[in-house]
Formats: sequence, structure tokens, C-alpha cells
Amino acid sequence: MRIDKFLSNMGVGTRTEVKQLLKKKCVTINDKFETSPKIQINPEIDIVSVNDKRIDYIDKVYLMLNKPKGYISATEDGQHQTVLDLIDEYKYLDLFPVGRLDKDTEGLLLITNDGQFNHQLMSPSKYVSKTYEVISKKNITKSDINVFKVGIELNEGLTKPAKLVHSDEVNKSLVTIYEGRYHQVKRMFHAIDNEVEALKRISIGDLQLDSTLAPGEYRHLTQEDFKLLDIK
Ligand code: URA
Repeated sequence: MRIDKFLSNMGVGTRTEVKQLLKKKCVTINDKFETSPKIQINPEIDIVSVNDKRIDYIDKVYLMLNKPKGYISATEDGQHQTVLDLIDEYKYLDLFPVGRLDKDTEGLLLITNDGQFNHQLMSPSKYVSKTYEVISKKNITKSDINVFKVGIELNEGLTKPAKLVHSDEVNKSLVTIYEGRYHQVKRMFHAIDNEVEALKRISIGDLQLDSTLAPGEYRHLTQEDFKLLDIK
């Protein structure tokens, strides 16, 4: 990889700013000053520093975000703020959200730049579960729980069986689904003559939203998190 690409990918500056830094002899590769932006490096092996500060190579990024309401799950949007506006690092690494949460849904959203990771979690054949906390207009009934267990007829066909359970608060329940159709939870509640008033995703597979993250905060996934997602 060219040194100027490496440094701009790591967020040191734009290509032009990086060229200036090289010219001013601020950059060393393996302790030797380098001034040419064209020089090739191996980011896995070579040690690059800018003004004596080592620049670590980050290739793939995996973040857990506590998505607040009001943000679109997209990489860009002409009108609204997107979830990527909440991530102030790794601007050059082409991050994207893993799946979508509606603008008014909050909670666990993974952000990455790894297409394979996204596929492992989103592919319909993988059946990775997603659990939501739902505040609904009416309390759920035993019959609702049974209907969810069978699957709900939406206009494009029957959903996979879903798990609906009461919580200890009135009008609050937990629903686990095994696919990711458009507005799925809202439409499933609508189909049982109820309405979702607030929705929060609390887990993906066995990975739960970190309760120490305030809305809008994020952290890197840990090895333990990957195990919980059952991703090698
Ligand atoms: N189901 C919905 O209806 N909305 C979401 O944001 C996620 C699941």
C-alpha cells in the first residue's frame, strides 16, 4: 500500500495534508524519514510514525452502537443525520451499519466495514435472532403469544415463528424474530390489532446491548462478543 493511502486511511489527514507531512519530514518508516508519498509499505510489518507517534494499522472495524432515536441506518442521507454521524473515528474506512433499525427505533446496532461479517449476521439462511423490547398500545395476550409462535401472515407471506413474552411492566413485551423484514415488528403487532409505540433492540444472537453505553455511544466488539455472535 502507498504510504499516503495508508496514512489517510488511518485518519491522519487528507491525501494533500499527508503529502505536506511527508514533505516536512514528519513521517518515519521503520525509524527512517520518508518524504515520497509513492513509497510502498506493508502495513502488517512496517512501523510508521508521524511526529514520533506510532500509527497502528486498523483494517477491519467492528463497533457496537447504542443507536438513539432520530438517526437513519444508512451511510448517507440528504436530509437526516445517519448513524455514521455518531462515529467520529475511521471516517476513511467505509463503515456501514449491519442491517437497519428504523429512524424511531433505538438500541443495539453493529457498525463495520467487513462485508463478510455483515453477511454472516444478515443472511436469511443464518437465522440469527434479534430481540426487541416493545412498548405497545395494548397489553399482549396469551393468544398473541400463540399467534407469534406460529408466524404472522404479512402481505408478502408468513413470517418465521417468533417468540413473544410478557415483561413485568404493563404494555411492555419482548419479541425475538429470526429474519429482518421491513418494519417487521411494527407490522407483526399491527397484524394482531395492536401498535408499537416504542422499539428498542436489545440483542443480536446471544450478544446483548452493553448497558453502560448511553444512547449515541459506541465501543469496539471484544473477543467475547464475537463468541456470543458465534462468528469465527
Ligand atoms: N422491526 C421494526 O418494525 N422496526 C425496526 O427498526 C426493527 C424491527
